[in-house]
Amino acid sequence: MKKLTLDEITALEAQHVVTTYKRQPVAFVRGSGSRLYDVDGREYLDFISGIGVTSLGHAHPGLAAAIADQASTLLHTSNLYYHPLQGQVAARLTKISGMARAFFANSGTEAVEGCLKFARRYWYTKGNNERTAFVALEHAFGGRTMGSLSVTWDEHYRTPFQPLIGPVTFVKPGDAAALEAAVTDRTAAIIAEPIQGEGGIRPLSNDFAQAIRDICRRTGTLCIADEVQSGLGRTGHPFYFPVLGLEPDLVSVGKALGSGVPVGATLMSERVAQAISPGDHGTTYGGNLLACRAALFFLEQLMDTGLLEHVNTAGRLFEQRLRALALKHPVIVETRGVGLMRGLQLAIDATPIIDSARERGLLVNRTNEKVVRLLPPLNVEVADIDRATDILDAVFAAVGAEVSA
Ligand SMILES: Cc1ncc(COP(=O)(O)O)c(C=O)c1O
Repeated sequence: MKKLTLDEITALEAQHVVTTYKRQPVAFVRGSGSRLYDVDGREYLDFISGIGVTSLGHAHPGLAAAIADQASTLLHTSNLYYHPLQGQVAARLTKISGMARAFFANSGTEAVEGCLKFARRYWYTKGNNERTAFVALEHAFGGRTMGSLSVTWDEHYRTPFQPLIGPVTFVKPGDAAALEAAVTDRTAAIIAEPIQGEGGIRPLSNDFAQAIRDICRRTGTLCIADEVQSGLGRTGHPFYFPVLGLEPDLVSVGKALGSGVPVGATLMSERVAQAISPGDHGTTYGGNLLACRAALFFLEQLMDTGLLEHVNTAGRLFEQRLRALALKHPVIVETRGVGLMRGLQLAIDATPIIDSARERGLLVNRTNEKVVRLLPPLNVEVADIDRATDILDAVFAAVGAEVSA
């Protein structure tokens, strides 16, 4: 394949690709573990992992071998037929989540879409056609397809595409009284991310999670935990909803599951699964052999090799380092997060920090305008956490000097 320069790549895209993304001026061609290499061979420390996706780092030899083996055996047959891998991945996912069954999709937004559809189907099957509404949280992000977008908080994402799926009522996380008022006899489900990701790395409080659980128990409203970003080891737990005491009927997963191969899933309780009939939902690609082989490999690594323990240890160290940074640099007003899902709330827009970090060879990401989001691979080495925080230290020192100049 012809090697393109950065200028050639950007020119081609400028001509032929729809500009839905505001890309940073860098093109990557190769990766290894926590490192990415651009077209000019420059090395970067990757502390965003393709937004929480490349959970095993880049070019993991075991994953690469599993994918190559699957590619030379059988990639796809559709959901017209059985294959041996879907059931195995579902068995693993249900075991670690405590949910009963899985539906496979190809992305996080489809996993959330599945949650919304199955919630409505549950009430429809029960003969209650009125319970079609959803309660979502302020700062929530569920994805870009119409259903998931409807339960996404940011108006910039929603407004141009209205009318969306409704009715949806947004409630401020932590406001139990508002939640109480929002849930009516028309509510199909409450949807919440146990830790809001795009919204700025904001864990739900235990008290608010209990309020969700209690109101769902009392009113029969279904609970949807969107674990697309927080799930599958990111927090040092297989899922974060049990840590908060949430009792979901539906759980969405994506991102880390395929470690870079697109795959998502909607996990559900038996009572929801029993409400679903053949033909109710489907997708051509969902859970194909390639996706399932990658997912199976990832789940084995997560559960059988001590990866969760590593995330806990590395996450504690990361937290210490970030807290020390915050003490040193007053522009950091708060550090938030769990495990290897971390955010720095700044007093200023995060863009100059992100740009300066990249120029110094560290990839991190801006979310919710003033938050620096850090999602290193789950197997990140401790030495790389030190290196990343050293780079951030230099970045904040430079920005601090600029602000005070
Ligand atoms: C919590 C959550 N749900 C859903 C999504 C949508 O996932 P995808 O971008 O794979 O469609 C995201 C993506 O960032 C997410 O963080």
